[in-house]
Amino acid sequence: MMSTTTQRVARVALAAALCAGVAGALTGCRGDRSDKPPRQFFPDMDDQPKYKSQAESNIFRDRRTMREPVAGTVAFARTSAMDWADGREDLLREDDRVYRGVDENGEYVVSIPLPVDDAFLRRGRERYEIFCMVCHNANGDGKGPVGNLWSYPLPNFHDEQFLPGGEQGSDGYIFHVIRNGVPNAPGMMPALRMPAYRNQINERDAWAIVAYVRALQLSRAMPLQDVPSTQRRELERTRGAAPRATQEATQ
Ligand code: HEC
Repeated sequence: MMSTTTQRVARVALAAALCAGVAGALTGCRGDRSDKPPRQFFPDMDDQPKYKSQAESNIFRDRRTMREPVAGTVAFARTSAMDWADGREDLLREDDRVYRGVDENGEYVVSIPLPVDDAFLRRGRERYEIFCMVCHNANGDGKGPVGNLWSYPLPNFHDEQFLPGGEQGSDGYIFHVIRNGVPNAPGMMPALRMPAYRNQINERDAWAIVAYVRALQLSRAMPLQDVPSTQRRELERTRGAAPRATQEATQ
């Protein structure tokens, strides 16, 4: 029993010594200075002449290596749903309404400048639940788990000023907040009270989230007679059942 343990310890010690030896041999030359060129076993195209960004160039009159696109250059992209860009429009970003949420006078657009359908809303819900829910809560009342601990109080999306027609209620403004966050007073740290999500959420998804925020608001404000009749029956049934179920549970 003893001897096998001792043997094992000896074996481990030997292996460790070997490893250390090999590692030492490999790293032994590090830090030594030499005037000889470095050894390159597979030089491939390592040493081709090239310009590095910001370097000076002798070719152009203004001596800049980095060039502007030639006038009249046409952007193009693959049109695949898997791509980061949905097509040429997403590269050109020319439409201020879609890409900046403002109209030709620089005012926030009143309503979402993209077609809203079921898939769009679902996408908005998914993105909302990933990026906004932790702070703004699933129902938009601002009492999410992170929101409750945040350094600045969170708004309730059901307050009048955030509803369509409210002071901070235009679709373009909510789009703007998603992309740029909410700034703090000048000179205050952190610079943003609400973080900006422009790097995580592209324009299309930001609009989808706006659509979902509208759906959340409607879910509280919609009069029962506006609910389609098939769903109204279901709603009335569950509404009617809810208090009874609670009563049973408490008895
Ligand atoms: C890390 C927490 C946090 C996350 C995540 C977050 N917000 Fe906010 N949001 C805030 C805070 C804090 C405020 C209040 C800022 C202020 O006015 O002081 C706010 C304010 C807002 C406002 C109102 C702006 C105003 O002018 O009063 C809107 C609209 C909003 N958020 C939408 C969103 C949406 C949509 C998302 C998801 C993309 C999101 N927020 C994600 C913290 C967050």
